[in-house]
Amino acid sequence: MLFAPAKVEPVILIVDDQPQNIKPLETYFVLQGYEIVKATNGEEALGKLSGNQIDLILLDVIMPGMDGFEVTRRVRQDNTHRLLPIILITVLWETEDRVKGIEAGCDGFISKPFDNIEILARVKSLLKVKAYNDLMSNYQKELESEVIRRTEESKHALENLQQEITERKKAEEQLQRTLDSLRKAVNTTIQVMVSAVETRDPYTAGHQIRSANLARAIATEMGLPPEKVEGIRMAGSIHDIGKLSIPAEILSKPTKLSETEFSLIKEHARQGYEILKNVESPWPLAEIVRQHHERMDGSGYPRNLKGEEICMEARILAVSDVVESMASHRPYRPGLGIHVALEEIEKNSGTLYDNTVADACLRLFREKGFKLEGT
Ligand SMILES: [Fe+2]
Repeated sequence: MLFAPAKVEPVILIVDDQPQNIKPLETYFVLQGYEIVKATNGEEALGKLSGNQIDLILLDVIMPGMDGFEVTRRVRQDNTHRLLPIILITVLWETEDRVKGIEAGCDGFISKPFDNIEILARVKSLLKVKAYNDLMSNYQKELESEVIRRTEESKHALENLQQEITERKKAEEQLQRTLDSLRKAVNTTIQVMVSAVETRDPYTAGHQIRSANLARAIATEMGLPPEKVEGIRMAGSIHDIGKLSIPAEILSKPTKLSETEFSLIKEHARQGYEILKNVESPWPLAEIVRQHHERMDGSGYPRNLKGEEICMEARILAVSDVVESMASHRPYRPGLGIHVALEEIEKNSGTLYDNTVADACLRLFREKGFKLEGT
């Protein structure tokens, strides 16, 4: 906000219906370094007030038309001149008249005939008060404008922030849509793979689905985030996809496998990785599948990974795979039962199997009533 520059000379408005009364005052105050604006009646005085920067009014009381009391009242009605010093010049001595002047809002009286020294002293004193009032008023205006400026700044900052949030939200929604469509695409791919396995090897297909369901339950029991749980389920449902590349007669052979045949079977983890490695997916499906036969102590295959080298998804899948395989029937042997399967996990927890995963699995069956499908 801009303010009028401070004036060098104070301006006094002298109002009197007798020009001969104005003249000596004007001469005196001009000599004292004041600027003078003159008016010979109330209406003119109010007009001068609105057009000039007046610092004080010397106002005659008895004037034809609008008298000094009325002029004072009108000046005070305008909030801009609420604190403008007004000195009434009068020959009236009655208390009643003084009360009238005070009630109208004047700041002092000078009685005619007056002494120049006295009037100068009164003028100086009232101008000092006015200067102080102006200072305070300007300070308040500056404060107000500072408050307005800062409020505006905060408003803009808030608007920018809201805009940023909206844009980020849009980007997130777009990302979510992309991720959702990718998930759908992966789901379709996986479904096709599951069907391919089912057609060739119904046993493996059932095993994969049951292992996937158990792996999902273990992951949930461990408190893993839903995103990860979904990835584990997805990887679980195709973890033996590599078996598609193994001759069917070896897979369903009812007698003990030769060492060469077993080496061929072991290849399925690596083959699964090869099949899945180019599938665009939000989850590391190929890697989980490649690691599902690794063991915590490094005794697994195909790469003899140990402990932390094995991803958590694969550690979970390892346990669910073993439990499902042991508990369910195989073409060459009946199921060993869930108790035997759980004993295997318990016995090797911390050596072959991740102990957190093993604990979650045991809790599910023993405390939470989890059951494998068909057992
Ligand atoms: Fe496997």
